[in-house]
Amino acid sequence: MSFVPIRTKTLIPDININFNIYINICGKFLLYTRNGDSIESERLKKLKTKKMKQLFISAKDEKSYQNFLDFCLENVAISDFNSQEKAEFASQVSQDAMNDFTQDPENQENYKFLEKSAKNILQVIGKGEKVLNSYIEDVQASDISEHIKLSLATASHVSCLCEELKLDEDSSNNIIMAALLMDIGMFKMPRKFHPFFLTSKENIPKEDLSEYKKHPEYSAEMLSGKEYVNKQIITLVKNHEERKTGNGFPTGTKNVSLENQIISLCETFVKSIRIEKKNQSEAIEYLKIHQLGNFDLSLVKALPMALKKQGIS
Ligand SMILES: [Fe+2]
Repeated sequence: MSFVPIRTKTLIPDININFNIYINICGKFLLYTRNGDSIESERLKKLKTKKMKQLFISAKDEKSYQNFLDFCLENVAISDFNSQEKAEFASQVSQDAMNDFTQDPENQENYKFLEKSAKNILQVIGKGEKVLNSYIEDVQASDISEHIKLSLATASHVSCLCEELKLDEDSSNNIIMAALLMDIGMFKMPRKFHPFFLTSKENIPKEDLSEYKKHPEYSAEMLSGKEYVNKQIITLVKNHEERKTGNGFPTGTKNVSLENQIISLCETFVKSIRIEKKNQSEAIEYLKIHQLGNFDLSLVKALPMALKKQGIS
């Protein structure tokens, strides 16, 4: 029998599971939970305490696990989980969804899974209280790529800002999806360009800048022509580097929608913390002073309000 790993933190206790779950001890796969049983809360906590990050299922049960995960995604926000457990669930699922999608972006199932994960980010983090920090910490502690960490950090901030601005759910979900997908065009570019997505634009060599500036178009191209991809998401992805001052790219238009500004504001904020190592108030000051005119002032003011609701100030 061949086994595939699943993330322990994606399991919700006390729900009947219709597949076997195995634990790997010293290379041997031992039955942990039998098909038809549920995992009691205390057993699950013990696994997490022991830092047992992975469990295993039989490869033939992948579809059943996906169905189980879909059920959890719909119910975790209203479950008995505390805010940290909810944050960890959202983090683990979104990591899996981004990993799967970046490995095979042409696969419709991967796109659908990412969509569900984006909705979960809004439900758990945007609509939750004091969840953002736990989410970011869990993402940070994982072994996924820095690119995915940056996308997830941006998307989670986007969800909080959308909620602060009281945007409707469909718009918020589209904006979060666009934040997750905005830089996937990177995978159409030679590997030497990949580090440029983790640095300030000033650090990109001049000779590579014009090619780098095509990445929003590459990202949009990867999503185009697929009937299951919402057209608004493609537009948001295509315009995610444009700025109201006209200093953005690829077109340099000054006509930048509020939805697009939400993405770029959050990305700029997250990058200045993660890459330029600013603290939060320095990052907000940076937005107010050095990014003046690039974003609506109402958005720059709304971001710290959103973070305050998450217990971050
Ligand atoms: Fe970008």
